[in-house]
Amino acid sequence: MTAASEAPLLQVENLAKHYRLPRESLLAPPPVVHALEGVSFTLQAGRSLGIVGESGSGKSTLARLVMALEAPTAGRVLMAGRDLHRLPRAALRAARREFQMVFQDPYGSLDPRQRVARIVAEPLPRMAQAERRRRVGEALDAVGLRAADADKYPHEFSGGQRQRIAIARALITRPQLIVADEPVSALDVSVQAQVLNLMQDLRREFGIAYLFISHDLAVVNHVCDEVAVMQAGRIVEQGPPERLFLAPQHPYTQTLDSAVPQAGADPGQRRQRPAGASSRVAPDS
Ligand SMILES: Nc1ncnc2c1ncn2[C@@H]1O[C@H](COP(=O)(O)OP(=O)(O)OP(=O)(O)O)[C@@H](O)[C@H]1O
Ligand SMILES: [Mg+2]
Repeated sequence: MTAASEAPLLQVENLAKHYRLPRESLLAPPPVVHALEGVSFTLQAGRSLGIVGESGSGKSTLARLVMALEAPTAGRVLMAGRDLHRLPRAALRAARREFQMVFQDPYGSLDPRQRVARIVAEPLPRMAQAERRRRVGEALDAVGLRAADADKYPHEFSGGQRQRIAIARALITRPQLIVADEPVSALDVSVQAQVLNLMQDLRREFGIAYLFISHDLAVVNHVCDEVAVMQAGRIVEQGPPERLFLAPQHPYTQTLDSAVPQAGADPGQRRQRPAGASSRVAPDS
């Protein structure tokens, strides 16, 4: 075994990202936003780490750096032991198939002028048309959509179904890691549980690891083995979701937790999984 294959799937080391804003006056130095500061964590293959924190705490910045869409100011992102931000362009392109992203907005993230087949196949490398078609069918099937949906356009689907299309696109390269930035927060509460259950099923079936970003502790509790709480660009607390719920150590986590509805308080609430509902066979409409 090589050293790289023994390395954790994702290792984030001391990551920082500073944004320089435009000067407010000629004399003043340009203000700098410390969007991320000293962020470190490890994610093993097949595991699921939730990142929670209020708006502006740096969650999406972290996602963009992990996806190598932006360069860090300091620190490293290691994917299976390789420093992503130092890979040559061709190697990065190949490595990208190992990690895919699902965004918050299922309306903005799918090109309305393209058919589903083309959208879902987009991350695939060059391959024969028939093989492409087969892979698209497989991915749509995995998210509970039909092969015939490949010929439709995004506007023909509901929000929950569109998020399934986005997940199919992320799955099609059979990635080891999916970074999901608020994947359900634009969806109706009734549809959120279906999409979360689908993501759980896919994790079990394909052994995918998730970096799962949400401002909602209840959502993260539903899908994650471990949760990191971010405040002002830093991780202030990390642990299993049960512990963060029952005995938050950091005052900031306590404030997040108090915003979460208590289990059983409301029959319609999100923390409960609909009994026996398989998200795979009952796509929302
Ligand atoms: N391109 C940029 N230029 C300047 N500042 C930025 C940029 N991107 C993010 N920031 C700043 O960095 C900080 C973290 O932003 P980020 O979008 O990562 O937060 P977030 O936790 O994802 O918030 P939300 O929950 O609202 O999505 C914020 O203060 C934001 O204004
Ligand atoms: Mg964000």
